[in-house]
Amino acid sequence: MRVTWAVLLIAGAAWAQEPTPRERAAAAAAGLGEVLKQLLAEELKKGGFEAAVRSCSENAQVVTEEYAREKGMEIRRVSLKYRNRKDQPDEWEAAKLREWAAASVPAKEVAETVTENGKRYLRYLKPIQTQAMCLSCHGGPGQIGAEVSALLSERYPRDKATGYKAGELRGAFSVTLAIPESVR
Ligand code: HEC
Repeated sequence: MRVTWAVLLIAGAAWAQEPTPRERAAAAAAGLGEVLKQLLAEELKKGGFEAAVRSCSENAQVVTEEYAREKGMEIRRVSLKYRNRKDQPDEWEAAKLREWAAASVPAKEVAETVTENGKRYLRYLKPIQTQAMCLSCHGGPGQIGAEVSALLSERYPRDKATGYKAGELRGAFSVTLAIPESVR
């Protein structure tokens, strides 16, 4: 009997230290942000903006999918004005992005529990702001160079992701993860 209690206590302590689904989602979003930032920085250093567009268009999705698989959750980037069609938001994401765009205060991460087919999921969305350095590929016509512009229209004929200003909301990291039955 004493042994059983000891086991339960240890199991309880381990459970208490487990990160919550929200903490796991936040860590994954931050981690993917770092991975993509590094990818971009390396390519810029090697070959400038044109090479970086090439690399981004070939690798961003692959790297994101690999990262999601490794973490065992759904994670991607979304935007109302997406460049890659795969980054088109679903209804829940689009509603949040529209709320953020209409608000007068800067967007803040949101997390909500949703139920689908009797299973509970955590949905988490973290805003991505446009910075000055992003404008060489997401800014207005005067800010995007001729080669980059040509490459973008070749690879993304329906590109919506230009015309941004620094400080504007560019999109979001979106995470969906199943909430274990044991978490109430
Ligand atoms: C070298 C050009 C380049 C730079 C610089 C750049 N991006 Fe992008 N960005 C791209 C390309 C190309 C894609 C599409 C990638 C794909 O096909 O998945 C993209 C996609 C995105 C997406 C996914 C949503 C969508 O539109 O498909 C977000 C969010 C994003 N960029 C944010 C940023 C931010 C924030 C910065 C600055 C910190 C930045 N980008 C800098 C080229 C660039």
